[in-house]
Amino acid sequence: MPNDLQNLYDIDAGDEVPSNHSPNPTFRDIAEARLGRRGMLMGGIATAVVGFIGAGSRPVAAQGAAQAATAAGPVIGSKPVPLSVADTVVVPEGYSAQVLIPHGTPLNGQPATKSVLEMTAAEQEQAIGTHHDGMHFFPIEGREPDQGSNTDGLLVLNHEYVAPRFMHASAAGKSIGDTRMPLTNGARDGEEVRKEIFGHGVSVVRVAKQGNGQWAVVADPRNRRIHGATPMEIAGPVRGHALVRTRYSADGTRVRGTLNNCAHGVTPWNTYLTAEENWAGYFRNTDQVDQRPALPREHARYGVPTGQARYNWDQVQGGGDEFVRFNVSRIGAAATEDYRNEVNAFGWIVEIDPFNANAVPVKRTGLGRFAHEGVVFGPAREGRPVVAYSGDDSMFEYIYKFVSARPFNRATANGSLLDDGVLYVAKFNADGTGEWLPLQHGVGPLTAANGFADQGEVLVNTRLAADTVGATKMDRPEWGAVDPRDGRVYFTLTNNPRRTEAQVEPANPRARNQFGQIIRWREANDDHAATRFAWDLFVIAGPESDSRTMTGAPLGTDNMFACPDGLWFDADGRLWIQTDIGENEQLRGNLAPFGNNAMLVANPITGEIRRFMTGPIGQETTGVVTTPDRRTMFINQQHPGATTSAADFAAGRINSRWPHGGAGVPLSATVVITKNDGGIIGT
Ligand code: FEO
Ligand code: CA
Ligand code: CA
Ligand code: CA
Repeated sequence: MPNDLQNLYDIDAGDEVPSNHSPNPTFRDIAEARLGRRGMLMGGIATAVVGFIGAGSRPVAAQGAAQAATAAGPVIGSKPVPLSVADTVVVPEGYSAQVLIPHGTPLNGQPATKSVLEMTAAEQEQAIGTHHDGMHFFPIEGREPDQGSNTDGLLVLNHEYVAPRFMHASAAGKSIGDTRMPLTNGARDGEEVRKEIFGHGVSVVRVAKQGNGQWAVVADPRNRRIHGATPMEIAGPVRGHALVRTRYSADGTRVRGTLNNCAHGVTPWNTYLTAEENWAGYFRNTDQVDQRPALPREHARYGVPTGQARYNWDQVQGGGDEFVRFNVSRIGAAATEDYRNEVNAFGWIVEIDPFNANAVPVKRTGLGRFAHEGVVFGPAREGRPVVAYSGDDSMFEYIYKFVSARPFNRATANGSLLDDGVLYVAKFNADGTGEWLPLQHGVGPLTAANGFADQGEVLVNTRLAADTVGATKMDRPEWGAVDPRDGRVYFTLTNNPRRTEAQVEPANPRARNQFGQIIRWREANDDHAATRFAWDLFVIAGPESDSRTMTGAPLGTDNMFACPDGLWFDADGRLWIQTDIGENEQLRGNLAPFGNNAMLVANPITGEIRRFMTGPIGQETTGVVTTPDRRTMFINQQHPGATTSAADFAAGRINSRWPHGGAGVPLSATVVITKNDGGIIGT
């Protein structure tokens, strides 16, 4: 995929170019919508498939939960905050916000002694990275992911990508947009590249509430940075496969680094999962046949660039092995003499044990290879399989779920549960039912005759396998969340301006979809391992003239939003929705009325939605979690100032100075939100 496609209006610096050119049918091809386009929305489907849900055969415990959930739902008492274009965080009346761990904060608990522009690569490696994203608060006891201390814990967060112009002093005065640094004498500076690689990845940092009520970093031996060069293990069906053997790992068991870590997951055994999302662009493959790009399918189907890589990391003068690995062309005589397979070791879910600083991160290949937005588990039940859902965030890509082969046993559960199981992909039928289609070698069309020699090939080529079985092409699946009260699974579908009228279908009901929607489903018999489900749309986002909530009413002043991305249920069942209107669309055209990116809170039972928080200029709001008592909330503000044009940057006119103000560069940071009366967030 030509790199310059990223300059098109609907692809932002943080996003991936679409690469699904498969002829998979859309619903329009399968059946001309039986209920008509509008009839397919919300209630229509739920009513049509009520018999399918199988309420009568539901386990008693699940029935109880479902009955409780039919009541009024969780209390939502915060006063809606207005739309905002201000360069600040706004929270409801009666709430306070504190900035914590901005980019560059040292992990040793000491204050930063220099600006991020002056930091060396080595200093960045020991400090909070940039572009904060998915995040979890692990109570310091380390026993359960959501039980324990409300004032002391390990905050673990992703750093999705970097804005080089806000990292390097050498960028000042140059015309640089929200993308790569220019080459100097045809090359990049190795120290700057290393600093960018170290700015990526994951931070594990102990934070605690102080006597004055403010939160601060606490020195701890478990504080560590995992980044784009940290050695990792490859586990699961792809471990040792020919497609991941490289000069670095001739036996295909190891790789350096995790990249473009978007959202996350938390396992029932108290570890952190980080999702590799838009990793393909960090590499490049210049192989040609007859002067045309000639890429293997495991590169082409994911959009590995054939021109420049995203940050030109492979182009360091006299580049060593740490840099040339980003060139995935066939340079050597064999795969173990070059890095043609390096990119095949990216696109996975990576497991990190935050409580063991010596634990090597592990790429869990059983969950498939795609632009993983995040991963969310169904409730773990003793003796039942572990189930995890994950979306592939690119236009016309799919939603997947993994079901473990072995049952969950709380006493012995660990990451190896994710190495053996079945990966499924979702097919959303026009009648409101759905099916999970297995991506298993030897099952259905996934055979050697069709180009899948073994399960390793199926998983390295997960997208192609999903094309082959006929999955449903979605409007950019982002975060998923599971309602703790009734087990329903919710997924944000952020937008898809390239969907045509002919491609409209019930689950993705708008052409040129700029605003997005939230889909949800209930697994058959409320069993997360089921292979059938019933779905509907929770909300169609947009302006008052083009939106619809569960009640049938449109969104309005207090809750209109666009481009839902982050999604999380708190323990009371409040649904938190975060928006990511892209840098190229914010405050422009049809997206202008929505102001800066925001967070909303919703009641999944009544469908009520209220705007809870708005962020500064140019950012997206992402990452959300509370302490177990739900009285302290952590959220992230990613890439403030990203909407500054290259010309304005050159002239020193940076449009956000958040969080520190003055002349400092804008910094991604965490924000701690509390209620002034000490109450539960959202009430
Ligand atoms: Fe990294 Fe799809 O947001
Ligand atoms: Ca983004
Ligand atoms: Ca996201
Ligand atoms: Ca997004």
